[in-house]
Amino acid sequence: MSGHTGKKAVVVGGTHGIGLAVVRALAQAGAEVLATGRDVAALQEISPAVHALRSDVTDMADIERLGRAAAERLGRVDFVFVNVGTAAIEPFEAVTEESYDRSFAVNAKGPFFVAQRLAGLIADGGSIVFTTSVAETGGGSVFTAYSGAKAAIGAMARCAAAALLPRGIRVNIVSPGFVRTPTMGIEASERDRVAFGNMGDELTPMKRHGHVDEVAAAVLFLAFDATFTTGATLTVDGGARHLAAS
Ligand SMILES: NC(=O)c1ccc[n+]([C@@H]2O[C@H](COP(=O)([O-])OP(=O)(O)OC[C@H]3O[C@@H](n4cnc5c(N)ncnc54)[C@H](OP(=O)(O)O)[C@@H]3O)[C@@H](O)[C@H]2O)c1
Repeated sequence: MSGHTGKKAVVVGGTHGIGLAVVRALAQAGAEVLATGRDVAALQEISPAVHALRSDVTDMADIERLGRAAAERLGRVDFVFVNVGTAAIEPFEAVTEESYDRSFAVNAKGPFFVAQRLAGLIADGGSIVFTTSVAETGGGSVFTAYSGAKAAIGAMARCAAAALLPRGIRVNIVSPGFVRTPTMGIEASERDRVAFGNMGDELTPMKRHGHVDEVAAAVLFLAFDATFTTGATLTVDGGARHLAAS
């Protein structure tokens, strides 16, 4: 027995990194989870209560299939974690129409339509958490399209919070800073990823990167415990957003 026995959750982008940590935390707490990504191998051995579904958020047919799978396997859903996202490192001058569209497809359009598709399955009183990024406020010269897409999904999440309020569904945002994950949230070579991580440790006021379990704890707090909180952003960034300039 544990804290979330009987709860049902969908984690979109749950195959590694922050999403996988949330899947594990939910399963440990007794919840039944449907977790998605394009490569679901890591999800096979966690627990019989974790169902894996191969699904690409840039494909509207996959989003529809995800909706049907969630309805069939879980029925009603208590919590949806819309975590999927990735950042291309692109100087402002290098952004193309194709790379811009791709960034918005993965970070904004897909997450929006996933949430819209799953909202009808969420039990009244349930919740949604979206993952944005400290980059959503801009300022990183190589993250133009990614920053814009994360800002967009953040704004859409706050509108969804207003839209779903009559059903008692809370919608909140977790906004990580530098968190050690297999990808560090970026599309880059291993060498560049290591350099990026080291730069993050230097830039972060706490002088370290975050651990996925620290983000997972914040996500579960927003999901189940923050009962008087909606439309809010919880930063989990070692002070990066609020202290860096002081
Ligand atoms: N790590 C950081 O420092 C950091 C900082 C700020 C914000 N974030 C944000 O936090 C979230 C998680 O980051 P992370 O570092 O944990 O990244 P990650 O390890 O790369 O995980 C990303 C998740 O999204 C899934 N995904 C990616 N593209 C997808 C697609 N087209 N369709 C379906 N699923 C897809 C991945 O699964 P597959 O690969 O199996 O498809 C994976 O489950 C992202 O939204 C990221 O932008 C991370």
